Amino acid sequence: MNLFDVYSLWNIEPVRAKGCHVWGRDGVEYLDFYGGHAVISIGHSHPVYVKAIQDQAAKIGFYSNSVINGLQTDLAEKLGEQSGYPDYSLFLCNSGAEANENALKLASFHTGKKRIIAFSGSFHGRTSGAVAITDNPSISRRGRDLRSRKRIYATA
Ligand SMILES: Cc1ncc(COP(=O)(O)O)c(C=O)c1O
Repeated sequence: MNLFDVYSLWNIEPVRAKGCHVWGRDGVEYLDFYGGHAVISIGHSHPVYVKAIQDQAAKIGFYSNSVINGLQTDLAEKLGEQSGYPDYSLFLCNSGAEANENALKLASFHTGKKRIIAFSGSFHGRTSGAVAITDNPSISRRGRDLRSRKRIYATA
């Protein structure tokens, strides 16, 4: 089986990383300004992060989100304290597309409005709602009339 051809790829295969440095399979070292979409902004292979992942994986790696997860409630409490918004609710999800999709839904529930302004040339993920506000025909879904929605794009 081949990997589905989602994006054109740079000819780099990172196999190791430490802090802000990444090493390719060919041994070339790169200074990494990427930060993994801010997902790994503490740097690669930080020892506290590595130990926390190792310890947790040795205890329990996954369970349904329909049971109590003390790690999630601890995270919500810490984020509430550190952000200064302890009364807000935390919505946890697995991907950028899911975050954007739910942000769109929450905004429309809150405002009652049906129209969304999106930047032209932007990318929001590959779920239906995220694609529906993206002006790139190469990622738009075919077979469903998402394009008939009123669209307004802003240019930066
Ligand atoms: C700006 C932006 N939004 C959304 C996404 C989608 O994130 P995910 O691939 O985690 O669904 C990406 C991913 O590249 C992104 O760069």
